Amino acid sequence: MNAIEIKHADHQDLELLALLGRVTWAETFGTLFQREKDVKDYVDTNFSISAIKSYLENPNTYFWLAYYNGFPVGYAKIENHVKTELVQGTKVCKLRNIYVLKDFHSKKIGLALWSIMLEKVKELQCDKIWLAVLHTNDKAIKFYKDNEFYTVGDFNLNIGIDSFIMNIMVRECH
Ligand SMILES: CC(C)(COP(=O)(O)OP(=O)(O)OC[C@H]1O[C@@H](n2cnc3c(N)ncnc32)[C@H](O)[C@@H]1OP(=O)(O)O)[C@@H](O)C(=O)NCCC(=O)NCCS
Repeated sequence: MNAIEIKHADHQDLELLALLGRVTWAETFGTLFQREKDVKDYVDTNFSISAIKSYLENPNTYFWLAYYNGFPVGYAKIENHVKTELVQGTKVCKLRNIYVLKDFHSKKIGLALWSIMLEKVKELQCDKIWLAVLHTNDKAIKFYKDNEFYTVGDFNLNIGIDSFIMNIMVRECH
């Protein structure tokens, strides 16, 4: 039987989180860019060992790793107390990342990560959790809608010479 295991990630997982972050991001969005350089610059900056280390040192940030039959295949991250003007509420947190390697999609690994995050968000007594998702990322948007997120607005994100429309989605946590 195939086994999914989710574990809370910490400093000991630093290199694995950086590597999975880098690979899953490039795998998901890499082909949308006009210049390979912009993909490389983005992952070099955002998934460097020092960038992930500073998230791990942030007391408002929580990471999880997903294992499938023993392989590390995905990760997720939330950050508490991150506000945006489009989301009203006093205790608001952000789902910063939920990524599963493409080879392992649609095996309920994302759902297992989300379930454990939701427990944490409730424990933190957040009113709402929100996220930003590329407006053409149909698979992720369907996943979020299946899990009670709804769209409240959008914004433009510029990376290198490309510009992307991002949807902001939110979910009540009571
Ligand atoms: C989005 C993502 C994290 C989802 O993870 P996943 O492991 O592929 O998804 P799961 O198998 O857990 O869930 C997907 C399936 O379960 C269904 N599902 C999800 N939540 C559900 C729920 N609460 N109740 C019932 N069904 C549900 C979905 O409809 C979907 O069904 P389908 O495969 O028949 O279409 C994953 O596809 C991914 O990593 N994508 C690339 C990275 C990315 O885009 N991340 C988000 C950036 S904002």
